[in-house]
Amino acid sequence: MSTFPPELAGKLIDGKGIARSLTDRIGREVSSFIEQGNAVPGLAVVLVGNDPASEVYVKNKAIQTHRAGMRSFMHMLPQSTKQEELLELLAQLNANPQIHGILVQLPLPPQIDPVVVTNAIAPHKDVDGLGEVNAGRLSLGIDGLVPCTPLGCLMLLQSVHKDMTGKHAVVIGASSLVGKPMAQLLLKQNCTISVAHIHTRDTRALAREADILVVATGKHGLVRGDWIKPGATVIDVGITRVPTPEGRTRLVGDVAFEEALPIAGHITPVPGGVGPMTIACLLHNTLQAARVTQGQSKGEAL
Ligand code: GUN
Repeated sequence: MSTFPPELAGKLIDGKGIARSLTDRIGREVSSFIEQGNAVPGLAVVLVGNDPASEVYVKNKAIQTHRAGMRSFMHMLPQSTKQEELLELLAQLNANPQIHGILVQLPLPPQIDPVVVTNAIAPHKDVDGLGEVNAGRLSLGIDGLVPCTPLGCLMLLQSVHKDMTGKHAVVIGASSLVGKPMAQLLLKQNCTISVAHIHTRDTRALAREADILVVATGKHGLVRGDWIKPGATVIDVGITRVPTPEGRTRLVGDVAFEEALPIAGHITPVPGGVGPMTIACLLHNTLQAARVTQGQSKGEAL
């Protein structure tokens, strides 16, 4: 980040730093939660198969969970795992009082239906917020567990905007993991929402109307500089590994960052923007789930 001139560096939203402060705060809250006589919060992460990127993600989740003073339970299942076997494991995890949060890493192998699996997690342990109970709560604007990546994006936006009332927020990408819950969260902040997807006729023209632009498509470099309204806040959820001319690889987002930086008012870098917030929010949700189990909270997300 220090390679940018100061007037541009000031535009960067420091996801890494914000995630570190959040994780530190959660660590302190976990200590006092345990000191009050509550159980150590426990997070179970289930990985099916050996997708290298997913393996890195789940190992990072386990490391950060330990660092925050929580218990981590890892379940690594073979690629050939049958859906019934995974459902049997989830039933055991649902019944285990040491476990307050359960996450099944996506994507899953083709023989397993991710909708069936996410709905088999008890709603009060669904720290990914992807099951129909938590998704329904979010769409009704009532307390529940909120998906980690959009929750992290919201926190980054709140670091820039005290009040988002009346702003036009455009979300590019309508996935259940990011785009749809992001739109619900922005609606709750009193934004006017547009969601662009693969069938949207002129996504560029829509994006140019956005005071807040959240991009989650997985298509690296999709959003060019001329898609951005001058002064807009841009949150880039994309993360793709691409080869460099020197024969190495580097991580890039869905936004053409060098073009966007001079035009945006504020923008997240890749890496170091949204990515670190996702794990921090998973820890936040796990503590929240433990608090709900101990009857200390009604279950508010923020
Ligand atoms: N794979 C990529 N992102 C996520 C996420 O937020 N949750 C789960 N369960 N799997 C993912």
